[in-house]
Amino acid sequence: MSGPKDNYQRIINYLRVSITDRCNLRCIYCMPSEGLTPIEHKEILRYEEIVRIVRIAAGIGVRKVRITGGEPLVRKNATYLIASIRNIGGIEDLSLTTNGILLEQYAKELAEAGLERVNISLDSLRPDRYREITRGGDINSVLRGIEAAEKAGLRPIKINMVPIRGLNSDEIGEFAKMTLKVPYQVRFIEFMPFGTEDMWRPEKFISADEIKSIAERIGPLTPAKLGKSGPARYFRFDGASGVVGFISPLSNHFCGECNRLRLTADGKLRPCLFSETEIDLKPALRGGAPDDEIRRLIKLSIEVKPEGHNIRIQNTELRSLIKNKDDRRRQMSRIGG
Ligand code: GTP
Ligand code: 5AD
Ligand code: SF4
Repeated sequence: MSGPKDNYQRIINYLRVSITDRCNLRCIYCMPSEGLTPIEHKEILRYEEIVRIVRIAAGIGVRKVRITGGEPLVRKNATYLIASIRNIGGIEDLSLTTNGILLEQYAKELAEAGLERVNISLDSLRPDRYREITRGGDINSVLRGIEAAEKAGLRPIKINMVPIRGLNSDEIGEFAKMTLKVPYQVRFIEFMPFGTEDMWRPEKFISADEIKSIAERIGPLTPAKLGKSGPARYFRFDGASGVVGFISPLSNHFCGECNRLRLTADGKLRPCLFSETEIDLKPALRGGAPDDEIRRLIKLSIEVKPEGHNIRIQNTELRSLIKNKDDRRRQMSRIGG
């Protein structure tokens, strides 16, 4: 893989693009129950602006683009954006992370527009609990959405589950078992301290190792070698059609292999999920700056990408971090994961 290198010899070739901070759900670990004012419409990048950034980023070596939110499918004409990005030379992998609620409606047109695959967030298989975690979501819409994605040929289907002790951790086995029958990649993501209202607490956190040992009650897991596997470590049960993956941003952080930049819906490049450093592209975009200037700012954000985060689970710093109610800190829903 080639692409621009940062100061720590990492190749930065993956851009996550959040196209809205709005969502049709309000997952308890992601958004506060109320009071989060959406970013004003005029502050949100227009599709033309996003396409321009992606084109320039592709020009310096970005190869992989993921569309995120909030919930990206609540923004009008997401299909148009997918088609526009598909036409940019150099983008080899185009995917989308969604809660799946609107997939039944959009999977086919997204696939036709050139979307390759989707990652779907699903934190419970029980209708009541799903409703509770998402504050009102209907799991049947998601299940129909997953089916529609399969039918549309959006593959591989990845399911993201965030286990939280005492909330949905008793479902780890059921999620892992799904992979016996269906060819999905079921990925468990360590609960990160982005929640609000003191939702995150050390005792609710379950490390990837513990999640794996719970999954192993079903049977032995052997490492599965998958091509472009990113931060997830993958395993397979004997004879299973799918794989289980573990994403451990806290217990075993993969900063050393991090290849990504994030673009927020209001036009800020964020070099690291855990750092508040952001480079605002909007003044340049809206002030008539030439491509060279946008390119310079993208390169600058690669240059300032920190070596890593230094959060340790038992670290007191983490507690102070999550107690920091400073509203300049972005909610996960404003970064897109
Ligand atoms: P694939 O290309 O399908 O592997 O996508 P992905 O894992 O990059 O995307 P997805 O949106 O499904 O992300 C899964 C989640 O893993 C992210 O939303 C984060 O919560 C976590 N994650 C992925 N990359 C990073 C990272 O660089 N740092 C941290 N802290 N967490 C990450
Ligand atoms: N910790 C871990 N994962 C989270 N996500 C959202 N908030 C958190 C959190 N606090 C996940 C979602 C989605 C992905 C983009 O990020 O479940 O799958
Ligand atoms: Fe919406 Fe995703 Fe946040 Fe849940 S995790 S509230 S689905 S943006």
